[in-house]
Amino acid sequence: MLNFEFQNPTRIVFGKDTVSSLDKLVPADARVLILYGGQSAERTGTLAEVRAALGGRTCFEFGGIEPNPTFETLTKAVALARAERVDFLLAVGGGSVIDGTKFVAAAACFEGDPWQILESLGGAVQNALPLGVVLTLSATGSEMNAGAVVTRKETHTKAFFSSPWVFPQFSILDPTKTYTLPARQLANGVVDAFVHVVEQYLTYPVDARVQDRLAEGLLQTLIEIGPRVVHEPADYDSRANLMWTAAMALNGLIAAGVPQDWATHLIGHELTALHGIDHAQTLAIVLPPMLRLRRESKRAKLLQYAERVWQLTTGSEDERIDQAIRKTQDFFEQLGVKTHLSAYGVAPEAVDALVQALETHGMVRLGEHGDVTPDLSRKVYEAAL
Ligand code: NZQ
Ligand code: ZN
Repeated sequence: MLNFEFQNPTRIVFGKDTVSSLDKLVPADARVLILYGGQSAERTGTLAEVRAALGGRTCFEFGGIEPNPTFETLTKAVALARAERVDFLLAVGGGSVIDGTKFVAAAACFEGDPWQILESLGGAVQNALPLGVVLTLSATGSEMNAGAVVTRKETHTKAFFSSPWVFPQFSILDPTKTYTLPARQLANGVVDAFVHVVEQYLTYPVDARVQDRLAEGLLQTLIEIGPRVVHEPADYDSRANLMWTAAMALNGLIAAGVPQDWATHLIGHELTALHGIDHAQTLAIVLPPMLRLRRESKRAKLLQYAERVWQLTTGSEDERIDQAIRKTQDFFEQLGVKTHLSAYGVAPEAVDALVQALETHGMVRLGEHGDVTPDLSRKVYEAAL
């Protein structure tokens, strides 16, 4: 096992009818900025519940944070937070709203050009406003981690930062808040959580038994509940299991003491930045060819994955690996998430610009061995056509 430090300070308040606990979680004298996305939080009544729970506190609101939140929009929220001297941020939404709120929290306290927050990958962050979360979509794990992804529309740059200053102080996880999600977002959530686990598990063995078995448990849970979540009417237990699985998939626990990959995510980011494809859809496109092309360096873990997650124990090593990757791809397709670029209208001519974008963004030595070069990334995009 590799050396590690682990600390996760986010308080999780989980279950039905928990939004009312905002009253005890947010300081009574706080000046609160509530941040949300498009129409869903208003339409579903969650915002009304949040306003009621905050009672007599001085509250301001900033709506319109888009999926894949933009630097341009968030800059307006920073100006509002400063002008109104707010001292607490409350994100009501999914990963985009939470990530956007983390950026606002850091940028509101930042001297100088706030894009440096992203250019420094968060290293330049010295302080941030405290923030809390009311989660409405299970997928990213942003509700229980210190990371955020922000897009600069002007340059088509999807950039990431992480800082311990932007861990949410608390996150309210009420699975009933996800009942209004359309099938596309539910399927995206299952795929995103699944690939988060894979990025931290499917590398090379370091005899990290607890982390491996936790990861395998999360993957098996997603395989069990995924189709039910997407194709059947909302039921509390499967939504609750998805919500906790997605949070556990990226809260640092299974990452402790193990190598991490993240090449699928980083290669996928360019597909969102240049073609507007949903984050989880990019992962479903990139992961299968990525695993096929890197089967030698991932061989031992691919065999463990085949056996323990998909119960594949017969046939040659290569047959088991092929079947495990095939089953993974079929699982995404069964959830309704297409796994080929052609299904999203991306033609072979687009590949040059995608590889160029990776190079421009310095994404030239990715993966747990730093061996995912632009050449290999090109092969991944080509195999995904
Ligand atoms: O904008 P509104 O109207 O609210 O609609 C949203 C949005 O269109 C809708 N929605 C959310 N909750 C709903 C709902 N609709 C009905 N009922 C509800 N209860 O869902 C749509 C998608 O929301 P979004 O927040 O964009 O989805 P998700 O949670 O998948 O977040 C994706 C973003 O997170 C980043 C991605 O890159 C992407 O920008 N990620 C963040 C990570 C992190 N911070 O750790 C890790 C991930 O790998 C990921 O990169
Ligand atoms: Zn993700």
